[in-house]
Amino acid sequence: MNTPVVRIAPSILSADLADLWSDVERVLAGGADQIHVDVMDGTFVPNLTFGAGVVEALRRRTDAALDCHLMVAHPETYIDAFADAGASILTIHAEATVHLQRHLGVIRARGMQAGVALNPATPLAAVEEVVDELDLLLVMSVNPGFGGQRFWEPALEKLMRARRMLDRAESRAMLQVDGGVGRDTIGSLAAAGADTFVAGHAVFRTSDPAAAVGELRRLARAAQPSGVTEA
Ligand code: DX5
Ligand code: ZN
Repeated sequence: MNTPVVRIAPSILSADLADLWSDVERVLAGGADQIHVDVMDGTFVPNLTFGAGVVEALRRRTDAALDCHLMVAHPETYIDAFADAGASILTIHAEATVHLQRHLGVIRARGMQAGVALNPATPLAAVEEVVDELDLLLVMSVNPGFGGQRFWEPALEKLMRARRMLDRAESRAMLQVDGGVGRDTIGSLAAAGADTFVAGHAVFRTSDPAAAVGELRRLARAAQPSGVTEA
């Protein structure tokens, strides 16, 4: 029998950046499946965060999956740097490039899993032609740039359509959701077909980040339809 899958991906955007490794260690001990690294360039989104150097520093300390979400213009410029740094998953925004298909191929060729993120206003049609080339589809449930924003409700229905699109293509890609994911929203997101959950505030802005990971996983599992299976 297939085991239902839930992946919890704490976003270090909401971690204590002065004590980053302690926070990462804490959530890994709590069972986090992958560490979500939000890379922002101040152009694609109105905020600045970190680059491949942070990934390299984390990689020196852990074998955990490093799930890098590039919110940058011209993401292709950074594929080699993130591969060299030890990124496991590299997700680029469909809105940030006109040569999505080519870049997905380069990401895979560099040994990473290839993801595409869609802003709230971007239709699923933006990835329909490249479904077979995706290891991860990220449906944003906020406009990216900041942690702690309010969940964008229509993401639920968009996730249901994304789930159908992936299933129709017999894709094993992760269906990830990012933005405003927490105790109140994760159940309905799992029921809609998401299997990979990014959470910033809901993990790191709590008194016990390790316990928060476990609690989010429990809530997602309880709501998940039985059809979602381990890749
Ligand atoms: C938003 C980032 C998210 C962010 C989520 O621009 O892509 O990953 O950290 O934060 P929360 O979970 O606090 O909404
Ligand atoms: Zn993110």
